[in-house]
Amino acid sequence: MDNLADLSVSLGRIHLKNPVLVASGTFGYGEEYQDLVEAAQLGGIITKAVTLEPREGNPPPRLAETPAGLLNSIGLENPGIEVFLKEKLPKLRKLKTRIIVNIAGEKKTEYLDLAERLGRETGIDALEVNISCPNVQKGGLVFGTRADLAFSLVKGLRQATDLPLIVKLTPNVTDVTEIAQAAKEGGAEALSLINTILGMAIDVNTRRPKIGAITGGLSGPAIRPVAVRMVHQTFQKVDLPLIGMGGIACAEDALEFVLAGATAVAVGTANLVDPTVSLKIIEGLRQYLKKGGIHSFQSLIGTLRV
Ligand SMILES: Cc1cc2nc3c(=O)[nH]c(=O)nc-3n(C[C@H](O)[C@H](O)[C@H](O)COP(=O)(O)O)c2cc1C
Repeated sequence: MDNLADLSVSLGRIHLKNPVLVASGTFGYGEEYQDLVEAAQLGGIITKAVTLEPREGNPPPRLAETPAGLLNSIGLENPGIEVFLKEKLPKLRKLKTRIIVNIAGEKKTEYLDLAERLGRETGIDALEVNISCPNVQKGGLVFGTRADLAFSLVKGLRQATDLPLIVKLTPNVTDVTEIAQAAKEGGAEALSLINTILGMAIDVNTRRPKIGAITGGLSGPAIRPVAVRMVHQTFQKVDLPLIGMGGIACAEDALEFVLAGATAVAVGTANLVDPTVSLKIIEGLRQYLKKGGIHSFQSLIGTLRV
């Protein structure tokens, strides 16, 4: 039976050997984890965000722990596209797994420029378009909170590159399905949800915010019910494969997303606690299939009973 269990899934044109990815910003560009996790065992790696110009990110402190969660305000710190192409991509190309490059910008032209340049490279399986980062002063989030802007950005990207486009949605909206639908109409091939929830924590002794930028993005188990709800709602309304994320730390957490309608999942904050957690989740999914006598993982997607 073990050999029969098929964990492979398809996200549009992207075929994954198993449905477990590592989420953007929590696995660097792969190299940071190379001694700990064999990349070939993962469904894929979603890189930390790449922007056109190098970014220094936000002032410290950038991380604060909260009950069952983590507030971060990294502010998209990254070396920029030039260094990414020269130093990071050649190493990513050697990994025997799917490589999804997360791109971010403040203006539409920046996203288009990034997509054009990345589209000329080999070894990239898809772009994850981050229209959902709560930790940048301008741009970023605005594309993720207005359906008209999301549509226009994705449509522009669709013309700028042939690479599959995965649009990453923000939970900081009233109705996530509106933005999801707009991204689909613009040409998205899959959707990632969710990015972090805008939050804040205060040290009452110093009366200062615990995060240098005052607010930060909340991640970890605290946000999982919100993320599962948004995957469920989007699955009901929008016909696109979904990558579910938000607080996944074990196979059971991952399965919640799959039953709600996710085709694949991404593990974020949990990597910071245990870098090998994704491998344990893959094994846990295999065991779940085996125990249930289920031959194909794909057959589980969206099978929530209500
Ligand atoms: C330290 C940190 C850095 C992150 N950086 C990015 C990023 O560069 N681009 C992005 O789209 N999401 C980024 N995220 C969001 C995660 O990819 C993920 O969507 C979110 O944290 C929810 O999943 P989790 O609860 O499993 O962490 C970051 C999250 C954390 C905790």
